[in-house]
Amino acid sequence: MRLVSLPVLCGFALSLLASTAVAAPVKIAPPPHLASHGTTQQLIVDGKPFLILGGELANSSASSLDYLAAQWPALQATGLNTIFAPVEWDQLEPQQGHYDFTMTDGLIRQARQHHIHVVILWFGAWKNSMSTYAPPWVKHDFATYARAEDDKGQPQDILSPFDPDTLHADETAFAALLAHLKATDTEHTVLAVQVENEIGMLPVVRDYSPQAQAAFNGPVPPELTAYLKAHAGSLNPYVQSLWQAHGQKDAGTWSEVFGDTVEAQEVFQAWYFARFADDLARAGKARYPLPMYVNAALNRPGKTPGQYPSAGPLPHLFDVWKAAGPDIDLLAIDMYFPNFAEWADRYKRPDNPFFSPEDNQAGKPEAGANAFYAVGQLDAISFSPFAIDRLTPDTGKGLTAAYSVLKHLTPDILAAQGTGRMRGFRARVAYDGTVDDTPQTFDLGGYRFTVTFVDPWTPKDQQDIASHGGLIIENEDGSFTVAGSGVTVTFADPGGMAVGVERIVEQREVNSVWQPGRWLNGDESHQGRHLRLPPDGFGIQTLTLYKYR
Ligand code: DGJ
Repeated sequence: MRLVSLPVLCGFALSLLASTAVAAPVKIAPPPHLASHGTTQQLIVDGKPFLILGGELANSSASSLDYLAAQWPALQATGLNTIFAPVEWDQLEPQQGHYDFTMTDGLIRQARQHHIHVVILWFGAWKNSMSTYAPPWVKHDFATYARAEDDKGQPQDILSPFDPDTLHADETAFAALLAHLKATDTEHTVLAVQVENEIGMLPVVRDYSPQAQAAFNGPVPPELTAYLKAHAGSLNPYVQSLWQAHGQKDAGTWSEVFGDTVEAQEVFQAWYFARFADDLARAGKARYPLPMYVNAALNRPGKTPGQYPSAGPLPHLFDVWKAAGPDIDLLAIDMYFPNFAEWADRYKRPDNPFFSPEDNQAGKPEAGANAFYAVGQLDAISFSPFAIDRLTPDTGKGLTAAYSVLKHLTPDILAAQGTGRMRGFRARVAYDGTVDDTPQTFDLGGYRFTVTFVDPWTPKDQQDIASHGGLIIENEDGSFTVAGSGVTVTFADPGGMAVGVERIVEQREVNSVWQPGRWLNGDESHQGRHLRLPPDGFGIQTLTLYKYR
């Protein structure tokens, strides 16, 4: 193992590492960062906006460089441009203060060789509530690095966020990783960093260790009550009602300000989880200011705090995470439920661009429709199914076709994001999987469009309507680009004129190059009555309309 001690992580030693470990030309562009574009934010890489069409590796795939090396041809075949890959604390810092960057360097080197970017997932103190990725020197030294406890005083295999030693250890390792990336990733292969993974408390709502008890009996930080006052008109009802029910106090202990219910205790735990993550983000950015985000394991309906991974960056706790985490750029959604649009809509806010690192297990037939909705309707910075390296050519067909279209349209999508010139659509699906195929209507570019998700030329019982979706972009010349699968679009004039089709031209992919193909003014568009994207793949058509009386 190549061990590098902390004191040499600077100056000459770093430039030496840069030239030997991951040799690359130095770029003068600033590191990847977020920048405003219209009403949204975009990821800027080497001066240009970048749309992540990604895939997250299964948890252990990057823990062996030999294993990882075999995955690239299949990853490349999907057309993705970015992988989400863990960097594990236990592999990075096997002995305290001694860093081994073999895995990090190998991951970046392999990705770069295949022209694929990387989002690093920092599996530090927490991975899905638990602390399995902490190094042995942390795990064994439970006197120094305290465990969280349940309400009966039973220690859990979960590091306590209330322990300053744990914060210091995790933060030090994280900062060393970011310093190393700054020194070595001069090609900007790494685009962003996820701080921990699915932070959330289980099997009880909060930590009851002695340090946690002391915090719970202590004052609510004034930054939280100041945030609540400043955002009083727009708070999530979950937090707002707890605060209001206890007199909208400026100060007091946690139970004085929010009460003592499990909901109030979730607010308390969320504050301290968010503070911990924010400290890491700040320490990391001080070394290398990459965009940083946290991801959420969503709560199932009907479950109360303590029955799901509680206190993570969930919509009902956004106010707490935003107040406690000014250095965290994005609260990101991990989506494993069928009601994608319903949850995804909640992660798109003026103060929170849409970013998803995990969109269900790769291979789900609805992945393409979800991607189009995320990118077209929510101005997504990232879309990325989980366990992408488990896709087979068969299960990967839909995503590959969707990514090919989205890749081709990326310049138009990025130009349209945040400008109101683009819409995304997909059939709404409920949590229990019930599909609502009601057509959806919206106005764009002076026309009223109605999107139908039931294909008119295919027997309904042979359609997987949950996988139908697409997007439409208003082009500068007044035409529209319509892309997707299994949707039929009709047109009207909000002002009451009649509307006809001037022309519909398909785009065809030939040898991986998209080019104009047939003109579709006859049967394919029902003689100009609609634009149809058949359900058997993902297509692109350019639509030009006209109005008459
Ligand atoms: C969500 C986690 O964030 C991933 O690391 C992985 O454990 C998946 N769940 C498994 O479904």
